[in-house]
Amino acid sequence: MPSPFGLLAELTYRCPLACAYCSNPVNLTEYSDELTTEEWQRVLSEAADLGVLQCHLSGGEPLVRRDLVEIVATAHDLGLYTNLVTSGLGFSRRRAERLFDAGLDHVQVSVQADEPVLADRIAGLPAFRRKLDAMRLVKEFGRPLTVNVVLHRGNIDRVAELLELAEAAGADRVELANTQYYGWAWRNRAALLPSRAQLDAAEAVVRAARERLRMEVIYVLPDYYSRYPKPCMGGWAARQLTVTPTGDVLPCPAAHTLPLPRASVRADSLARIWAEAPVMTAFRGTDWLPEPCRGCDRREVDFGGCRCQAFQLTGDAARTDPVCHLSPDHDLVVRAVEAANDDAVSPPPPVPRRRVRS
Ligand code: SF4
Ligand code: FES
Repeated sequence: MPSPFGLLAELTYRCPLACAYCSNPVNLTEYSDELTTEEWQRVLSEAADLGVLQCHLSGGEPLVRRDLVEIVATAHDLGLYTNLVTSGLGFSRRRAERLFDAGLDHVQVSVQADEPVLADRIAGLPAFRRKLDAMRLVKEFGRPLTVNVVLHRGNIDRVAELLELAEAAGADRVELANTQYYGWAWRNRAALLPSRAQLDAAEAVVRAARERLRMEVIYVLPDYYSRYPKPCMGGWAARQLTVTPTGDVLPCPAAHTLPLPRASVRADSLARIWAEAPVMTAFRGTDWLPEPCRGCDRREVDFGGCRCQAFQLTGDAARTDPVCHLSPDHDLVVRAVEAANDDAVSPPPPVPRRRVRS
């Protein structure tokens, strides 16, 4: 059995922003009984014992947790590389100082667009300037910065300007990630899915930028337009695990949607959950693969694609990801792509994520 390499610690789903592409669960109110500081510290210690090396502190907005400095300090003392995944709101100078003193290694700031009007419309509040301030602070402290942009129909035409923004912010890395359709983004798929022409234009900009820029440019392909699915999470329960704000352990952040028994750090150890819980073992490896994956040369490359996407689109998590052109369900993806490219169809306005405050 493999050891997990990365832990996604979803500290809270509370967040001041209301992005329609959010992949957090839709039933946010069920996640208010958050793990305590001591519970997170135990999770981190058990994760380190399991072999985890990297810890992504995410949410929601992790900065709304008042104990974030203590959590970072514990992760650092355990030898974990810590990455704060943040909107930037709440990243004050005082907070930055305390987090870096506690051992925070890396900060990833999300940006919705390259200019305030569009960015703040997507975020649902005036956040743009505060994000620029947060990025400035990270660089002032001499720490590595990733700028993350979730791309969709409403901002993908601004990729050139987004790259300029990241460069001006002194980012070490920019991640342009086409929306993955889970949680709120799934609900808003028709509003968010870009057209083929938009994608082609964006990809040309990215190709040219990679040759010109010194910072690392990551472009996460939109899998609805790919012939093959993504090897989601590097395989089910192979390299990554997620712990939700209330302590459920999952192989990926969207797996709570699957009809599998829950496993919680409040009831069991992380090691036993990783090794034995049905939520981890259900699709681990390749023995469970259906046809056409079972006889396919790519079965060790993409493991039949994303289980959560297969479940969302077909109602059966054990089917081939419909993104694959060989899947018997591929027409489900083809129809969504056709609608996104039909000039006679006006996409609906996106529904903003419900805001959950501290
Ligand atoms: Fe991947 Fe299955 Fe498609 Fe082959 S048939 S490319 S293994 S999803
Ligand atoms: Fe869950 Fe892909 S998001 S397996």
